[in-house]
Amino acid sequence: MPDNVESHPETQAETQAETQPELQGSSVLSAEELRAHWMPFTGNRQFKRSPRLFASAEGVYYTTVDGRKVFDGLSGLWTCGLGHCRPEISEAVSKQIATLDYSPGFQYGHPLSFKLAHKVVELTPAGLDQVFFTDSGSETIDTALKMARGYWRSRGMPGKSKFIGRIKGYHGVNYGGIGVGGIGFNRKLFGQSVDADHIPHTVLPENDFSRGMPEKGAHLADELEELVLLHDASNIAAVVVEPMSGTSGVLPPPKGYLNRLREICDKHNILLIFDEVITGLGRMGSLPGAEEFGVTPDIMTLAKQITNGAQPLGAVVTKADIYDTFMDQGGPDYMVEFPHGYTYSAHPVACAAGLAALDVLEKEELPQRVKSMSAYFENAVHQLKGAPYVKDIRNYGFAAGVSLEHYPGEPLRRPFELGLKCFDKGFYIRWGADTVQLAPAFVVTEQQIDSFINAVGESLHELP
Ligand SMILES: Cc1ncc(COP(=O)(O)O)c(C=O)c1O
Repeated sequence: MPDNVESHPETQAETQAETQPELQGSSVLSAEELRAHWMPFTGNRQFKRSPRLFASAEGVYYTTVDGRKVFDGLSGLWTCGLGHCRPEISEAVSKQIATLDYSPGFQYGHPLSFKLAHKVVELTPAGLDQVFFTDSGSETIDTALKMARGYWRSRGMPGKSKFIGRIKGYHGVNYGGIGVGGIGFNRKLFGQSVDADHIPHTVLPENDFSRGMPEKGAHLADELEELVLLHDASNIAAVVVEPMSGTSGVLPPPKGYLNRLREICDKHNILLIFDEVITGLGRMGSLPGAEEFGVTPDIMTLAKQITNGAQPLGAVVTKADIYDTFMDQGGPDYMVEFPHGYTYSAHPVACAAGLAALDVLEKEELPQRVKSMSAYFENAVHQLKGAPYVKDIRNYGFAAGVSLEHYPGEPLRRPFELGLKCFDKGFYIRWGADTVQLAPAFVVTEQQIDSFINAVGESLHELP
C-alpha cells in the first residue's frame, strides 16, 4: 500500500472506529440519535464520527450547531440561488400552512398549482405548455419517462419504449433515473431497471480548462445515429440528457452538440428530454438552460431552484402535443388520462413557496445577474489552474467543476479530503467522483467569490 494511503485521515478514522466501536455523540445529538438516521448519499460511518451539522442559514451563509459561520459554496444542493431564508418565501409558506395545509391532488385541486403552472409556462421556452408537478428531481425524471412511453403507446407505437441516456448523466435515484443515468456507482448495487442504452459523455482531454462551452465535441452527438442504427428508431421512446451535467462534475455541452441531438431526434421521431433539475431556473444565466443553449426539448424537468429549496417540488413541462395525445386517447370523461401522481403532487405549501421564489427570481432579475457576473466567477475559478492536483476546470454561469488528480486507484478520495479542508476553513463545497463542484448563490458578491476561491486554493495547497 502506498504511503499516502496509510496516512489518509479516513483510514485513521476507520482504525479509531475499530478501537472505539460506540459512537460518541456530538454537542447536540446522542450516539443513539446519530445512529438512527441512515443518511442519504453520505459516508455514514465517517459523518457520524465527525458530524457536520447546520443550525441556521441566512443569505449565503450557514451557521453550524457550534456557532461557526460557513459560506454556502453550492447554494444548498444547487437549490438556494436566491440566498437562504428569504422573508418573501418564509412568509408565503407560513401563511399558506395556516390557511390550507394540504389539499388532495387527485380529482380535486387548489388555485395555487394552476397559477404556478402558468408561471412556469411563462418562464420556459415557447411550445412547452403543460406542467405536471412532482416532489423531487428523481420523480420528475421517472414521470417524464412514463409520459414518453405512454405518448407512443397512445399513438399506436408501443414498440417505442427504449431510452437513450448519456454516460456520466445523472437523473436522480429512482429506478427510471438510474437506468437512463450513466453513473455506474449509482446503479451497480441495484441492477438494471428500464431498458436503456447510452451515448458517450462529452469530456475530451483537448477541452481541458475550457471556459464555458468547449470548442470540440459536437461530433459526439452523432453517436446517437449509431444507436439508432443498432436499436432502430421504432424501438426508441426518448433521448434523455442534462443540457449541462452537474453531478458528474459540471460538463457544459460542446458548441453545437445539443443542436445535433435535436436534429437527430427530429429526423427519427424520437422525443428529446432535457433534465434541467440543476440548469432550469437561472444558474446558467438564463431561464432555463434550453434558452441559454438555444435548443428546445419536447419535455423538460425542473426541480431544485423552483422553491429555492424551501419546499420539495419538481415540475415536468411538456409540449402541448404530448398532453393533447393523452387527453384525446383518454376515453370517457370519468376516466383518468394519465394514471400517475403523488400524494404530495402540487402540495399547496410547496406551490406557495414556488410562486414566491419565482417572483423574487424575476423581480431581482437574478438570471441576468448570473449572466453579468459569470465572467468574474469564471476568472476567479480558473485561477485555481496550477494549484496542486488540479487537472481540469470547467464552468458555465454560476457552476464550476474542478477535477483533481487521483490517488492511485482512489479517484474519490482527494475531492473528499478537499471538501473537509474547505469545511474546516468555513466553506461548504460538494465533492463527487474526482471533482469538487462550486455553485454559489445568484446573490453572491464579487468579494465573497474571491474569498471562496481563495479558500479552495489554500485548501488545495494544504492537501497531503
Ligand atoms: C440533473 C438532475 N436530475 C435529477 C436529480 C434528482 O433530484 P432529487 O435529488 O431532487 O431527486 C438531480 C439531483 O441532483 C439532478 O442534478
